[in-house]
Amino acid sequence: MSIEHESVQVRPVRDEDRPAVMELVSRLAEGVAEWRDPEAVVDAARQWLAGFFAPTRERQGAVFVAVAEGEVVGVVSVNAHRHFTGPVEAYIGELAVAPHAARTGVGRRLVSAAEDWARRQGLRHVTLETAAGNTTAQRFYAAVGYREEAVRFTRVLD
Ligand SMILES: CC(C)(COP(=O)(O)OP(=O)(O)OC[C@H]1O[C@@H](n2cnc3c(N)ncnc32)[C@H](O)[C@@H]1OP(=O)(O)O)[C@@H](O)C(=O)NCCC(=O)NCCS
Repeated sequence: MSIEHESVQVRPVRDEDRPAVMELVSRLAEGVAEWRDPEAVVDAARQWLAGFFAPTRERQGAVFVAVAEGEVVGVVSVNAHRHFTGPVEAYIGELAVAPHAARTGVGRRLVSAAEDWARRQGLRHVTLETAAGNTTAQRFYAAVGYREEAVRFTRVLD
């Protein structure tokens, strides 16, 4: 299936999108460091998103999906988060595009939706983290205007 850019709609997530969103989140194990459990990374993302779907919880942040011909082909979550220097900024927690929809501009449109959300909140920065091994994501973020700000080091003790 090929995805035509014009046929993709980006909209706020709905309850019925939940199974598709949870499936897409399995892509978040990409490039995870060898000393981390990739399943735990995926589970943590699923838990955060499950909290967003839960009707009893007051929703914070936003989740947007990209839909092509009725199929959810991408998801992004964004939240407000205080940087340690003080300002509240937007933080993209999860971003995933279905493999068959990759390189058709879906990721770019989802990030743009998260940025529009941030602007509506009056926030000036959008930040995110990605695994050092996830070179695809790093190329993507650079291509859509993001600049590297920090590099995290870890030593695994004997
Ligand atoms: C990273 C990801 C979200 C990109 O989504 P996408 O819809 O394929 O990206 P787009 O089509 O909008 O690409 C926009 C630009 O990013 C760059 N880009 C995207 N994928 C790339 C790749 N595999 N290699 C090099 N550059 C890439 C290109 O410059 C591209 O523009 P172009 O296609 O006109 O050359 C997607 O690959 C994905 O879901 N990966 C797995 C999950 C993940 O790693 N999420 C991020 C974790 S924080």
